[in-house]
Amino acid sequence: MGKKILLTGGLGYIGSHTAVELFHAGFQPILLDNLSNSRVDVLDRIGEIIQQPLHFYLGDVRDGKILRQIFSEHQIEGVIHFAALKSVSESVQQPLKYFDVNVSGLTQLLQVMQESNVKKLVFSSSCTVYGQPTDNWEVSENTPLQDPMSPYARTKRMNEEMIQDVCHTGFLSAVILRYFNPVGAHPSGLIGELPLGVPANLVPFLTQSVAGIRQPLTVFGNDYPTSDGTCIRDYIHVVDLAKAHVAALNFNSKEHSPEVFNVGTGKGSTVLEVISSFEKTTGLTVPFSIGPRREGDITAVYANTEKIQRELNWKSNYCLDDMMLHAWNWQKNQN
Ligand code: NAD
Ligand code: UD1
Repeated sequence: MGKKILLTGGLGYIGSHTAVELFHAGFQPILLDNLSNSRVDVLDRIGEIIQQPLHFYLGDVRDGKILRQIFSEHQIEGVIHFAALKSVSESVQQPLKYFDVNVSGLTQLLQVMQESNVKKLVFSSSCTVYGQPTDNWEVSENTPLQDPMSPYARTKRMNEEMIQDVCHTGFLSAVILRYFNPVGAHPSGLIGELPLGVPANLVPFLTQSVAGIRQPLTVFGNDYPTSDGTCIRDYIHVVDLAKAHVAALNFNSKEHSPEVFNVGTGKGSTVLEVISSFEKTTGLTVPFSIGPRREGDITAVYANTEKIQRELNWKSNYCLDDMMLHAWNWQKNQN
């Protein structure tokens, strides 16, 4: 049996795909989730893909009791901490909820890891910590971070700093992954993103709008200083992102400071390029109109991926067309 890895938030969008890739790489994923943004049947879908049931604990990462129970029932070699709240707009309305789940959640987890002598952590951070880069749209891990633009972004910045401080004590060995824009779904169509209510993110809104569940897509602004006037992001296939976690677990980070990696394709795409990629691969038409800019949006950002290629020997495989095709296959299965 492979090494046991605890995935907090393991039934969520990125956690579920990572559970599959970890299993394929010979690890034994153990999942903890409070189902605040996921459904328990995802566990069956993961089981269907890997042809094995996985251990699942229903519980909250802020609850030391359940964490202690997991660490006593299993010899956990490492933890991947996905469990968090991730809506930027909700974080502006309810910042305390975000500090509680994202900041207290990590505090509690690190506390129990220390008690249980579990030293290895992989943490889900976000390119949101870069804000709008001032000099260059391509950001490397050394690009100076900007002041957080939302309470959500602040929690990720605080989480990174907390991990840094705990690493300094010598107990923790941590990898911080700064995800760019995860999209797409598992090629099987069995697992994917499950946005609650009206999606705020581009790709789930787009697929739901093509499926007729939503109004036509509004492209938020076409007067940005980019090739076609729409914003640029680095969209990364969720399966590629999941595989980066396997590489991160296999990496021996330095004892006294966390190792930070960007996880993106290294290529920026405009909103109109995303739409035309979707139309090309599916043969369907995306209903959309151009609207005003969305408050708080940045013009452009994409990852410099040299460090992760060099040190983790990881690079993305799927292209934007694959991401769109898999996102659509997943959406079709929801009807
Ligand atoms: P998700 O909401 O699909 O998954 C998070 C999971 O954590 C959910 O299943 C939810 O039920 C669970 N959870 C939330 N609070 C919990 C708690 N207190 N205790 C136990 N479980 C809890 O989100 P995701 O897209 O899979 O994101 C995973 C991580 O990656 C998050 O930390 C998120 O901030 C980060 N991230 C996501 C994106 C993105 O665009 N999806 C981008 C950058 C970073
Ligand atoms: C959002 C979050 C960011 C998070 C990231 C990855 C905000 C302000 N930021 O960023 O913190 O790390 O998701 O999950 O929410 N778009 C449209 N029409 C739509 C939806 C989006 O044109 O209906 C455009 C946006 O203007 C943007 C691009 O599509 O240019 C991507 O948007 P989105 O998917 O929301 O991601 P981010 O804005 O990059």
